[in-house]
Amino acid sequence: MSERVYIFDTTLRDGEQSPGATMNLDEKIRMARQLETLGVDIIEAGFPIASQGDFESVRAIANAVGDVQVAGLCRSVVKDIDRCWEAVKVAKNPRIHTFLATSPIHMEHKLGKTPEQVLVMADAAVRHAAQYTTNVEFSAEDASRSDWDFLVKVTETAISAGATTINIPDTVGYTQPHEFHELIKYLMDNVSNVDKAVISVHCHNDLGLAVANTLAAIRAGARQAEVTVSGIGERAGNAALEEVVMAMNTRKDQYPYETGINTHELFPSCRRLSQIIGQPIPPYKAIVGPNAFAHESGVHQDGVIKNRLTYEIMTPESIGRAGNEIVIGKHSGSHAIRKKVEQLGYSLDDAQLGVLFNAVKELADKKEQVFDEDVEALILEKVFRRRD
Ligand code: KIV
Ligand code: ZN
Repeated sequence: MSERVYIFDTTLRDGEQSPGATMNLDEKIRMARQLETLGVDIIEAGFPIASQGDFESVRAIANAVGDVQVAGLCRSVVKDIDRCWEAVKVAKNPRIHTFLATSPIHMEHKLGKTPEQVLVMADAAVRHAAQYTTNVEFSAEDASRSDWDFLVKVTETAISAGATTINIPDTVGYTQPHEFHELIKYLMDNVSNVDKAVISVHCHNDLGLAVANTLAAIRAGARQAEVTVSGIGERAGNAALEEVVMAMNTRKDQYPYETGINTHELFPSCRRLSQIIGQPIPPYKAIVGPNAFAHESGVHQDGVIKNRLTYEIMTPESIGRAGNEIVIGKHSGSHAIRKKVEQLGYSLDDAQLGVLFNAVKELADKKEQVFDEDVEALILEKVFRRRD
């Protein structure tokens, strides 16, 4: 049995912090149920102290789901932690997730605290949370811009105080994959009690590196990935759940680990989110974008018709999509057009296919994409000469 990488989904907390992605209570519950079907290990349901609405939705989600763990986020202060526990405690498996900044810039300018004071606060917060539950996560906010030896001390302190998950966020998406790999390895090698906790990572996408940084950290020993569906989140977003999972699944040689994710639910989950927040999945989005399995060029179309593996590293069916798509355009070759004709249910001889091929090329020069309806109209009009 290979090692497990836990998938911690924060679509309903960090994801909801994405402009335009606010969800009402019913929508959050629908999304939480979909996340449970998808097989995530932990749902971060919200930030209970943030507002009465957030508190109520965290509690409603905690009530609505089954065995999946439900986390609430809280700052490292007693009133936040108490409020968080009030909201999550009705879950079958509640988690308190408390955070505190550890980078010099955050400690000085945001918290107005010395590193020594931050250590005391982290210790007190985790001890307070651990009175409620053994399932306590501590996040060292802005960890990737923190002093590494200070991070070792903070991690040791939080674990000694009772944290069972330590999260190392790249809060501002600043780190680079090789550097983040070294940081996680440094913690694995230098934190004296590291075996008593799961090391987690939480990467933002400001430089487009959130997924790469998450994967680098997993290779260095992190065993929890904090992600969001379609990568929604603050600013440029968070590491996309579907990309992290499919990168690991597709490259088992690099990531010999298991997750609890049912990959067939990846596309339905992204689609559900997109319907709820009213934002389409971008065309070029890896794994789930409309173009992710669409082949337009003649060479590629010819290849996938002969053998899909020529240009597809995973099947669309494996992530819950209907199938790949031959897109007819000016780059399409005769094999693709023949295939499209078959898919549309027609049977043409070579001469008829030649007529259709020329008609498609002529239309494709005038129109960006030739849709199935266009091909069908050309078959009727140019091949069968019917105008009705
Ligand atoms: O980005 C971040 O640092 C966070 C923490 C609160 C986990 O979202
Ligand atoms: Zn975040």
